Amino acid sequence: MTDRPQTNSLDGLVAIVTGSGRGIGQGIALRLAQGGAAVIGVDLGDQSETGKLVEAAGASWVAHEVDITDEERVTVLVADIVDRLGRIDILVNNAGIDDAVGFDELDLARWRRIQAVNLEAPFVLAKTVVPIMRQHQYGRIINISSGSVLSPMTRFIAYRAAKMGIIGLTRAMATELGADGITVNAVSPGVIATPMAIDSLPQEFLDDQVSIQGVKRLGTPSDVAHTVAFLAGAEASFVTGQTISINGGSTFV
Ligand SMILES: NC(=O)c1ccc[n+]([C@@H]2O[C@H](COP(=O)([O-])OP(=O)(O)OC[C@H]3O[C@@H](n4cnc5c(N)ncnc54)[C@H](O)[C@@H]3O)[C@@H](O)[C@H]2O)c1
Repeated sequence: MTDRPQTNSLDGLVAIVTGSGRGIGQGIALRLAQGGAAVIGVDLGDQSETGKLVEAAGASWVAHEVDITDEERVTVLVADIVDRLGRIDILVNNAGIDDAVGFDELDLARWRRIQAVNLEAPFVLAKTVVPIMRQHQYGRIINISSGSVLSPMTRFIAYRAAKMGIIGLTRAMATELGADGITVNAVSPGVIATPMAIDSLPQEFLDDQVSIQGVKRLGTPSDVAHTVAFLAGAEASFVTGQTISINGGSTFV
């Protein structure tokens, strides 16, 4: 039996959000905080803007400047959170990097870095948090995939391989961990107006995307964050192994 409340309030829950310094991760950190969770942000870069937003929402916030591919630092960080707070209920594997190059330009070093950030680090983070989630018989792991794996597009070879891999990891973990009250889901954003998308995608591509969507605008971080918050709560306890598209209707899977 879970010791968590059966409503979708996140009160009393502890959440780790990676890539929380800007973009989608910032939106997720804020939304989980507004839901009542204590949020721990993990990012390579500056998180002061996120900190101000989360604290303005009246929530508990701690920022850690950590590269999520540094397994040793990730392990120490998680152990420290468990020591201080006694629980980790929600892990949002959001941090990601892309590679706006085609097959011929992609080299193995770049391929490996993209897999390390987008696929291996989520696995390592999940490995480190699952033991404490098991103790409480409650856990929510939410991985961020990408709509780029759902329909043809050029470039982003290593990125799309990793984002497809995270869907496989999500399904496999969901099957093994469900008996312990831990759900594992992915969300698959379409084009969301963040620094990553605006820097990597030509304006023409953005315009084309909006024109084929049912909803005629780019997505926002909070569009993604609301779905993540639902998956993070008790009401989503029977949803696991799924990949939920948040894309204004650009695809139907
Ligand atoms: N923006 C989109 O249109 C879109 C679409 C589909 C999927 N996504 C996915 O959503 C997630 C967030 O994307 P975004 O658009 O907000 O990106 P972003 O580049 O705006 O923000 C990513 C954040 O992750 C952090 N980060 C990167 N590498 C890290 C590392 N090794 N360790 C710790 N932090 C690291 C960055 O510092 C940054 O703050 C990514 O996984 C991305 O692939 C984005």
